[in-house]
Amino acid sequence: MASSCTSSFLYCLLFICISLFVSFTFAEDPTVSYKFELTYITASPLGVPQQVIAINGKFPGPTINSTTNNNVVVNVRNKLDEDVLITWAGIQQKRSSWQDGVLGTNCPIPPKWNWTYNFQVKDQIGSYFYFPSLNFQRASGGFGGFIINPRSVIPTPFDDPAGDITVLIGDWYIRNHTNLRKTLDAGKTLGMPDGVLINGKGPYRYNDTLVPDGIDHETINVEPGKTYRIRVSNVGVSTSLNFRIQNHNLLLAETEGSYTVQQNYTSLDIHVGQSYSFLVTMDQNASSDYYIVASARFVNESTWQRVTGVGILHYSNSKGKASGPLPDPPQDQYDNTFSMNQARSIRWNVTASGARPNPQGSFRYGSINVTDVYLLRNTPPETINGKRRATLSGISFVNPTTPIRLADEYKVKGVYKLDFPNEPLTGPPKMETSVINGTYRGFMEVIFQNNETKMYSYHVDGYAFFVVGMGYGEWTNDSRGTYNKWDGIARTTTQVYPGAWTAVLISLDNVGVWNLRTENLDSWYLGQETYIRIINPEKNNKTELPIPDNALFCGALSRMQKPQDISPGTTIRFSGGGYGWLMMMMIFIGGFLI
Ligand SMILES: *[C@@H]1O[C@H](CO)[C@@H](O)[C@H](O)[C@H]1NC(C)=O
Ligand SMILES: *[C@@H]1O[C@H](CO)[C@@H](O)[C@H](O)[C@H]1NC(C)=O
Ligand SMILES: *[C@@H]1O[C@H](CO)[C@@H](O)[C@H](O)[C@H]1NC(C)=O
Ligand SMILES: *[C@@H]1O[C@H](CO)[C@@H](O)[C@H](O)[C@H]1NC(C)=O
Ligand SMILES: *[C@@H]1O[C@H](CO)[C@@H](O)[C@H](O)[C@H]1NC(C)=O
Ligand SMILES: *[C@@H]1O[C@H](CO)[C@@H](O)[C@H](O)[C@H]1NC(C)=O
Ligand SMILES: *[C@@H]1O[C@H](CO)[C@@H](O)[C@H](O)[C@H]1NC(C)=O
Ligand SMILES: *[C@@H]1O[C@H](CO)[C@@H](O)[C@H](O)[C@H]1NC(C)=O
Ligand SMILES: *[C@@H]1O[C@H](CO)[C@@H](O)[C@H](O)[C@H]1NC(C)=O
Ligand SMILES: *[C@@H]1O[C@H](CO)[C@@H](O)[C@H](O)[C@H]1NC(C)=O
Ligand SMILES: *[C@@H]1O[C@H](CO)[C@@H](O)[C@H](O)[C@H]1NC(C)=O
Ligand SMILES: *[C@@H]1O[C@H](CO)[C@@H](O)[C@H](O)[C@H]1NC(C)=O
Repeated sequence: MASSCTSSFLYCLLFICISLFVSFTFAEDPTVSYKFELTYITASPLGVPQQVIAINGKFPGPTINSTTNNNVVVNVRNKLDEDVLITWAGIQQKRSSWQDGVLGTNCPIPPKWNWTYNFQVKDQIGSYFYFPSLNFQRASGGFGGFIINPRSVIPTPFDDPAGDITVLIGDWYIRNHTNLRKTLDAGKTLGMPDGVLINGKGPYRYNDTLVPDGIDHETINVEPGKTYRIRVSNVGVSTSLNFRIQNHNLLLAETEGSYTVQQNYTSLDIHVGQSYSFLVTMDQNASSDYYIVASARFVNESTWQRVTGVGILHYSNSKGKASGPLPDPPQDQYDNTFSMNQARSIRWNVTASGARPNPQGSFRYGSINVTDVYLLRNTPPETINGKRRATLSGISFVNPTTPIRLADEYKVKGVYKLDFPNEPLTGPPKMETSVINGTYRGFMEVIFQNNETKMYSYHVDGYAFFVVGMGYGEWTNDSRGTYNKWDGIARTTTQVYPGAWTAVLISLDNVGVWNLRTENLDSWYLGQETYIRIINPEKNNKTELPIPDNALFCGALSRMQKPQDISPGTTIRFSGGGYGWLMMMMIFIGGFLI
C-alpha cells in the first residue's frame, strides 16, 4: 500500500477510499491475501521433461490456508500464453458467483493480465482444492490445496493433530494440456495415463523394472506416536484412485466441509474432484519407511501397473527404506459392490459442529419437501455436427461468449436458454447453452444416471449437496425408498458408478449462476456440464453481492472492457469494468460527502 501511494496523490486517495469500501462490504472479518503468478516451468515428474503450469514457480501451487468467514483475496497474474480462470472447487462463495472462475460467470483473464479474486469463505470449514478451469489446463497443473479452518470458538470432533498435511493425487500424462486437447478435438480418446503423481511427484522406485531411475518422489516426515491430519484430493484428469498407507489405518474425519462419522479404513477410493481428511496415527515400530499408494481403480491391474503413485511415509526414527511389494488394493476390479458399500458407509456426524456451533444435523434435510426434480443422464460420447461431444440428458453444453451471469446483469438477450429438461431428452443429442431454472429457496433433487461403463464424478459449484442414495440400474420413483434421510453426507462432489445412479438433494439458498459439471476433465471439455441459475425475485444486495468493480467484460459486452496496462513496473492499474472508473470516482466523491 505504501509503495502504491507514491505514484500520485489522487491515486492514493482513491486507494484509501477503495479500502474503506471493501471493509464496508465485508464487515470485520479478517482477510487472507495471496498472489498467484501462473507460468510454465519444465518439470520431469515421470522422468520425461515437460511443460507444467506452476504457481509462483511451484508445482503444485501453494495451499490456501483460511478460516471460516475470512475474506480471501487472490491476485492472479496470467503469464501463460492462453486465457486463464481459477476455480475454487467446493468453496461456496456465498452470494457471489462473480468470483467462481468458470466461463458461465466470468470472462477469462487474458495472457499478461492480472485479476483479483475477492470472496468470503462464509459458513464453511474443510478440505478443498483450486485449479485452472479453462483449456484443459488442469492436466498440466496449476492446482493446489484449499483449507478452511474452523474458528477457534467452534469445537472440532477430534483433538488438534500434530500436523496438517495436504496430499494432491491424480493421474498424469506426459503429453501437455495443449496436446491432450488436440487429441480430444480430433475426436479421439486420451488413452491410458502415464502415471499417478503425489504432490506433483512421480513414484518412489518400489520396483526397478517398473519405475525408471532418477524420479523424484514425495516423502512425508512424521514423528512416532503422533496423529496427523492428512488431506487428500484427487486433482487428476479422470481416474478414480485407491489411497492407502502401508500398515496404517486411515481414520476418516472430514470430507469437503462435513465431519464424518469417524471410521477406520485400510484404503479408500477417491474419485476425481473429491477431497477427504484422514487422521493417521504413527503407531508402527518404524522398522522401515512405509509406502503411501494411490493406484488406479477399476482397471486391468496387469496393464495399469505402471500408473501407480507411490510416496514414502518416513518416521524420524525409521530404521530403513520401504521395500517389498506395495500394500494390496481391494481385490475386486470387476465388481463395484465393495466400493459402493464403502461410499455408503461415509456418513455425516450429525452431532458434530461444522462451521457453526450448532450440530451439523440440525439442518434436517430429510424432512424438507422437494420442489424440483432433475434426472441427469450421461451417455457415451456421440458425434454432433461432425464433432465428438459428451452430453448430459442429451445436451452438450456450449459455453456462451458472454458469461450467463454478466448477460443477466446487462440484459443481453439470447445468450442462453433457461430450458434444461427435467428428464433426459429423447431424440438426437444437440449442442445448446441450456441452463437449469432453479427456484430460489427451493429444494432440488438431482439424480445422476451413469449410462457409461466408466466411473464419473459430478460437482455443483456454490453448494454442498446431500448424497442420499446410490444404486445399480435405472433410477425409478421407488428408489426413493432407499434414500438415507438422516445422515447422508453433505459434500460437493459425488461419484456415480457405471450403470448406476446417485441421488443428491440441494437447498437452493445461494443466489447466482452455478456450474454443474462432471469432474472427469475429458467429458467436461467435450460439453458434459450445465448451470443452475438461481434468482431472488426480490432484488437486494443481501442475497447477492453487486458485480465487483473489477469485473472483466467480453463477448457482447467487450466494448465495456478497458485495456489493462501490461507494461512492467507500473504500480497502479485498474483493469476491469468500463464502469469501474466511473464507480471509483463516485466512491471517491462519496468519500467527501460522508
Ligand atoms: C506442449 O507440447 C508440445 C510438444 O508436444 C509443444 O510444442 C508445446 O509448446 C507445449 N505446449 C505448452 C503450452 O507447453
Ligand atoms: C496487477 O498487479 C499489480 C502488481 O502486482 C498490482 O499493483 C495491480 O493492482 C494488479 N491489478 C489488478 C487489476 O489486480
Ligand atoms: C461425532 O461428533 C461428536 C461431537 O464432536 C463426537 O463426540 C463423536 O465422537 C463423533 N462421533 C463419531 C462416531 O465420530
Ligand atoms: C494455517 O494458518 C494457521 C494460522 O492462521 C496456522 O496455525 C496453521 O498451522 C496453518 N495451517 C497450515 C496447514 O499451514
Ligand atoms: C517388478 O514388477 C515386475 C512386473 O510386474 C514383476 O515381474 C517383478 O516381480 C517385480 N519385482 C519385484 C522385486 O517385486
Ligand atoms: C482406528 O485405528 C486405530 C489404530 O490404528 C485405533 O487406535 C482406533 O481406535 C481406531 N478407531 C476406530 C474408530 O475404529
Ligand atoms: C516391527 O513390525 C514388523 C511388522 O509388524 C515386524 O515384522 C517386526 O518384527 C517389528 N520389529 C520390531 C523391532 O519390533
Ligand atoms: C488384463 O490385461 C492383460 C494384458 O493385456 C490381459 O492378458 C488380460 O487378459 C486382461 N485381463 C482381463 C480380465 O481383461
Ligand atoms: C411437505 O408436504 C406435505 C404434503 O404436501 C405437507 O403436509 C408438509 O407440511 C410439507 N412439509 C414441509 C416441511 O413443508
Ligand atoms: C423459472 O422459474 C421461475 C420460478 O422459480 C418461473 O417463475 C419462471 O417462469 C421460470 N422461467 C422459465 C423460463 O421457465
Ligand atoms: C444404458 O441405457 C440403455 C437404455 O436404457 C440400457 O439398455 C443400458 O443397459 C444402459 N447401460 C448402462 C451401462 O447403464
Ligand atoms: C446494490 O449495491 C449497488 C452498488 O453498491 C447499488 O448501486 C445498488 O443500488 C444496490 N441495490 C439495491 C437494491 O440495494
